[in-house]
Amino acid sequence: MSAAGIVIAGAGQAGFQLAASLREGGFRDPITLVGDETALPYQRPPLSKAYLAGKTDRTGLFLRQPGFFTEHSITHRPGVSAVAIDRAGRRLGLSDGDSLAYDHLVIATGARNRPLPVPGAELDNVHQLRGLADADALRAAIAAAQAIVVVGAGFIGLEFAAVAATRGLSVTVVEAADRAMARAVSPEIARFFRGVHEAMGVRFAFGASVTAIVGRQGRAAGIVLADGRELAADFVLIGIGVVPNRELAAAAGLPADDGVRVDAFLATPDPAISAIGDCARFPSPFARGLTPDGTVRIESVQNAIDQGRCLAARLNGKPAPYAALPWFWSDQGMHKLQIAGLAGPGDASVVRGAGDAFSVFRFRDGSLSAVESVDRAADHMIARRLLAAGTHLTPNQAADPDFDIKALAMRRP
Ligand code: FAD
Ligand code: NAI
Repeated sequence: MSAAGIVIAGAGQAGFQLAASLREGGFRDPITLVGDETALPYQRPPLSKAYLAGKTDRTGLFLRQPGFFTEHSITHRPGVSAVAIDRAGRRLGLSDGDSLAYDHLVIATGARNRPLPVPGAELDNVHQLRGLADADALRAAIAAAQAIVVVGAGFIGLEFAAVAATRGLSVTVVEAADRAMARAVSPEIARFFRGVHEAMGVRFAFGASVTAIVGRQGRAAGIVLADGRELAADFVLIGIGVVPNRELAAAAGLPADDGVRVDAFLATPDPAISAIGDCARFPSPFARGLTPDGTVRIESVQNAIDQGRCLAARLNGKPAPYAALPWFWSDQGMHKLQIAGLAGPGDASVVRGAGDAFSVFRFRDGSLSAVESVDRAADHMIARRLLAAGTHLTPNQAADPDFDIKALAMRRP
């Protein structure tokens, strides 16, 4: 590689991991990490959990302290956007007018929150939660509020509702679907967490559509639903999913519909450009039968880290297809939800355990596709082994409380 080195657009979880893993693997040429946020690269999960609840401070969020970047000769350019790719000239144009030459460009631009297209969504105290500044604004808003409305019963909505309810706020969650977290979990898990939230005093409106956010003196005072109901609120949090930041790639002529399209090696059709993290759509062995073309876009820390590592290995001369098992977690109230694998809405469910600690084994076409565990960390670890190794478990075995799944997972192939 010549002296231009590697330029990474996006200094989030995936971009940072790539830079760190490149140096760990012995990469010697320049690395430049361009990020439009002003802070040091940081982790997002605490923004809807410990940081939002005031249990950890800002320094605990940073992936590394400032010294790391100089010690490892990684140039971090904060507060600057990547605005255009000149593929023929191998240069990345920046929002401050500068441009950077690259030997290899990595698009790690993540995702942004989906806007709610209703009148009033632009009002001051209508919040979203993606970055540090959002979390800081929400910490202040929670401290001054009594009643709030959360739109969306996904991960953001429910983790936020749990923190707000614990702080004594009156919380109503409005969800378009007929259950919570429908994108990611089984009906059994959704039902359990609905109960957990209701026990904390959270109210739900499922199958509900917001038609407007009502303003009073320039501030949101509540929402209106399609059935005419009005819900008063001191502020509104919108958490209705994300869209990938694909525009940089699309404008450069790279295939990028729901995500920047990459192959199993995380490469775009341009051999000098790759994409990783929330913005990348890739073929996954765990998505067979889940999507028409077997490709997925995964929005998780595990995926961002593992794709950063996988690409670093290729750029250091050790290529391997990306085949890491997807896994996720969510903290809501006193409970930890852990998910291994990728399930679809049509996958069958088999429940093991009971009460407040149980796992739901999901099956697609008779094969194990995912395991969702509530406060059963051992099941989660066993599930990761089973799924990663492709070990066959039948629905009957999963349903039999006397069947030793751990022994099956530990068996050598
Ligand atoms: P990001 O971390 O979003 O980083 C992308 C970066 O690129 C951002 O800084 C963005 O501003 C920047 N950028 C975008 N466009 C440009 C451009 N043109 N030029 C320069 N920079 C640009 N996942 C879990 O697995 N578990 C959790 O518990 C969990 N909790 C979460 C809680 C919250 C509140 C949020 C918001 C997310 C959570 N996630 C969780 C998801 C996880 O944080 C993301 O999947 C992960 O951050 C993706 O990493 P990324 O690098 O692809 O994207
Ligand atoms: P999400 O996709 O998890 O959930 C969005 C929810 O909003 C869905 O239930 C959907 O049905 C609902 N919805 C969509 N449009 C709606 C509308 N108009 N009105 C009402 N409801 C509507 O996305 P979420 O919760 O916004 O999270 C954003 C991102 O942050 C995701 O990438 C997520 O993975 C990540 N995240 C992950 C966490 C975790 O893994 N523990 C925690 C917090 C965030």
